[in-house]
Amino acid sequence: RAEEIWLVISVGVLILSMVVTGYQAFAMDMAPPSHKETIDPQKVDETAPFDNPGVFQTEEGKYEVVMTLQIFSFTPNKIEVPAGSEVTFTMTSKDVVHGFQIAGTNVNAMVMPGHIQKITQTFEEPGEYLILCNEYCGAGHQMMSTTITVK
Ligand code: CUA
Repeated sequence: RAEEIWLVISVGVLILSMVVTGYQAFAMDMAPPSHKETIDPQKVDETAPFDNPGVFQTEEGKYEVVMTLQIFSFTPNKIEVPAGSEVTFTMTSKDVVHGFQIAGTNVNAMVMPGHIQKITQTFEEPGEYLILCNEYCGAGHQMMSTTITVK
């Protein structure tokens, strides 16, 4: 009967999706060591340091930017540091895979949900640097950008 066929199909789809999820967890585990630090993507807002995103001075000439990426935006969306600063970006995604590229530098990284990405860059030249998402992440992808002002 039709209902039974649909039942079989939906149970089949359910099992398949469980297998795929299991495989993804396994594949993530094989990720390179820099991507090993993990975080629950559902609880980013409650998990330190991401419960308090922003720009923090860690020592003389050094800053840490704690940043979350989510569809359409970077948080914080305004970053300002003095010229010559060494800036470490500590990042995670709250939803899908995003890219993190800083125009005019070699910085180019993937930021994945469930993982903490750290990138350090020294900004010698004053100016406004464009930060872009370079992984297609949905309808808002083209609008996903922010800036870092070095002065
Ligand atoms: Cu985020 Cu494209």
